[in-house]
Amino acid sequence: MTDRTPLDPSSPDALRRRVRVVGIGSGGPDQITVEAIAALRESAYAVAAVKGAEDPLVDLRRQLLARHAPGVELVGVADPERDRSSSSTSSHVGYRGVVLDWHEARSLAWERVLADRPGDVAVPVWGDPAFYDSTLRIVDRILARGRLDFHVEVVPGISALQVLAARHRLVLHEIGGTVTVTTGRRLAEVVAGGADNVVVMLNADLPLDGLLDWHIWWGGNLGDEGECLVSGRVRDVLSDLRAHRERLRAEHSWVMDVYLLRRPG
Ligand SMILES: C[S@@+](CC[C@H](N)C(=O)[O-])C[C@H]1O[C@@H](n2cnc3c(N)ncnc32)[C@H](O)[C@@H]1O
Repeated sequence: MTDRTPLDPSSPDALRRRVRVVGIGSGGPDQITVEAIAALRESAYAVAAVKGAEDPLVDLRRQLLARHAPGVELVGVADPERDRSSSSTSSHVGYRGVVLDWHEARSLAWERVLADRPGDVAVPVWGDPAFYDSTLRIVDRILARGRLDFHVEVVPGISALQVLAARHRLVLHEIGGTVTVTTGRRLAEVVAGGADNVVVMLNADLPLDGLLDWHIWWGGNLGDEGECLVSGRVRDVLSDLRAHRERLRAEHSWVMDVYLLRRPG
C-alpha cells in the first residue's frame, strides 16, 4: 500500500524524497489554495504531461507556477499516444484496457524523468486529484516497479464540479439526497439505473437528446477568461450549448465543460 499521509517531521519518512500530487484548481490562478502554493514552492521542480506540439493546459500550469512559485521549473513529459479508435474503446472493457496501457506508458516516461532529476517533485493536477485524474495511479505504478523510492503526498484542490456549483449558486443534491458523478460516456447507463441528480465530466460531446425534459446547469472553461454559464431545460438550451462548446474551442484553443442534470419533478 502507498502511504499518502502528510509527513511527521520526526518520522524516518521525513528524509525520503517527496512526490506531491497537488490540486491546483480548475482554471483561474486564484483558485489555488495556500497549502498547494506552499507545496509547489518547496519542490525542486514540477512535472506535467504534454499532449501534442502545443498544449494550452500546460501553458496555464506554467503561468500558475510563474505567479505562485517563481523559479520552480515545469518539466514537460511528452504524453504517449493513446488509442482512441472506436474499435478499441466502444465497450467499457475495451476502454479500460486502453487506459491501463496508456497509464503504463506514461508511468515509464515519468519514471525516467524522476530518475534523471533528483529532489522533491510536485505534480500540479487540474482541479482535484480525486476526480478523473490518473496521476495517483501513475505514481503508484512507478513505486510498484521498485526502482525508485519516494513518499507520496496529496494536496487537495478545487474541482470543476465545485466551481460549477458555486457559479450557479447550487447545492448539488436535494436535502439529504444523492448526487452521482459520472462521465459523458456513462451518462445513459447511470440515468437508466435511476439516478436523478447527475454531475457529468469528461464530455466528448453532449449526449442529451434523450433527456430533453431534464434541467441542466452547465459551465464551460470555468475560472478561465472565457468562462461561460448556461442553465435551463435541456430542450431549450441544447443547441446553444453545442454552439458555446464550438466557440470556446475556436477562441481559446481548449474547451472543458461540466454540468449538473436534474430529473424533472
Ligand atoms: C480529466 S478531468 C479532470 C477533473 C479535475 N481533476 C477536477 O477535479 O476538476 C477533466 C474534466 O473536468 C472538467 N473540467 C475541468 N476543468 C474544467 C473547467 N475549467 N471548466 C469546466 N469543466 C472543467 C471537464 O468535464 C473535463 O472534461
